[in-house]
Amino acid sequence: MRAKIIGSGSVTPPKVVTNDDLAKTIATSDEWIRTRTGIAERRVSDEATATSDLAIIAAQKALISANIKAEDLDLIIVGTTSPDTLFPSVACTVQDKIGAAKAAAFDASAACAGFNYALTTACQYIESGMYKNILVIGADTLTKYVDWNDRSVCILFGDGAGAVVLTASNDGSGILAHWLKAEGRLGHYLVMPGGGSRDPAEKNGRFIHMDGKEVFKFAVRVLEESIYAVTKLADLTVADIDLLIPHQANSRIIDHVTKKLGLPKEKVYVNLQKYGNTSAASIPLALDEALQDKRLKSGDIVVLSGFGAGLTCGANLMRW
Ligand code: UT7
Repeated sequence: MRAKIIGSGSVTPPKVVTNDDLAKTIATSDEWIRTRTGIAERRVSDEATATSDLAIIAAQKALISANIKAEDLDLIIVGTTSPDTLFPSVACTVQDKIGAAKAAAFDASAACAGFNYALTTACQYIESGMYKNILVIGADTLTKYVDWNDRSVCILFGDGAGAVVLTASNDGSGILAHWLKAEGRLGHYLVMPGGGSRDPAEKNGRFIHMDGKEVFKFAVRVLEESIYAVTKLADLTVADIDLLIPHQANSRIIDHVTKKLGLPKEKVYVNLQKYGNTSAASIPLALDEALQDKRLKSGDIVVLSGFGAGLTCGANLMRW
C-alpha cells in the first residue's frame, strides 16, 4: 500500500511587495535581489491573517480537487514554524474549521523542510495500514518574523499555504521513497530566538536571524544529497526524474545543484520569482501550480526536496 496524492490546493495573500517597494525603505535594489536570489516579488499577509487562515483555504481547495469530504479524513498534519499560537496547533484549528470531525491533527516543525517531513510522516500511517485519507499542509507566514530593516533577511521571505490530500492506493503510482535528514549542530545558522520556552518574554526579539552564506552552503550540499538518496531508495537514477520541485529559496541554489546533477531546466519547477521563500508552503504551492500548468502526466517521476532551519532536509519521490 502506498500514499498517493489525489488533490491539491494553494493560496497566497493578495498583497504584493515588489523589490522596488523594498528599495524605498532599505539599502537594496531590484537588480541586487534578482541576481542574488531570483526573487522579483513576494506576498505578505496582513495583521488579521494568521497561518491557519491560509492553511484552511489551501485545505478546502485540496479537498474539492480530491473530491473527498472533510469527514472522511483520518489525519491532518501541518508543516509550519509560524503557528497562530504555541498551542493549539495549526492542524487542530484546521481540523475544527473544515469540519474534519474524526481526524487526528498535529503540526510538524521542520521549518522550510516542514512539508516534506509532514508528507513522509503521513506516508508511514498509510503504508502501515493505520489510516486511509490524510491531509498534509505546508503553511507559513514568516514575513511576520522578519526585521524589515534587515536587508539580508527581509528580501527573501513571503507568505502562503499549500495542501495535498493523500489516499491509500495499490495501483503502482504514489509516493515511492522518502528521505529525511537533520543536522542540529548547524541549527545556530538560522534561528528565531524569541517566544519559545528559552525566552518567553521575547527579550531576544522575535526576528529571524540567519547566516545566509552558511545556510547556502548547507542547502547546495543537502539538496544534491537528498535527490541522489531518494532516487536510489526508489531504485531509480537522476536521469529518470521528469520533474524536480525543490524548495523555492534562491534560484542560485537551485541552478547550482541542478547543473551539477545534469538536470535540464525544463525538468525543474521554479516559481520563487513570484513568491520568494514561503517556507513550508513553497513545495506544495509549486506542486499545485505545476499541476495547474499541466506539467505532470500519469507515470511521471517527481521529486520534492526541501531544506531549512534545524538545519533540516527532506525529500519524497513519487510516480504520478
Ligand atoms: O529556507 C532556507 C532559508 N535561507 C536560505 O535559503 C538562505 C540561503 N542564502 C542566501 O540565499 C544568500 O546567502 C543571501 C541571498 C541571503 C545573501 O547572498 P550572498 O550572495 O551570500 O550575499 P552576502 O551575504 O555575501 O552579501 C554580499 C554583500 C554584502 O556587502 P559587503 O559586505 O560585500 O559590502 C552584504 O551586506 O551584499 C550585501 N547585501 C545586500 N546588498 C543589497 C546583503 N543583502 C543585501 C541586499 N541588498 N538585500
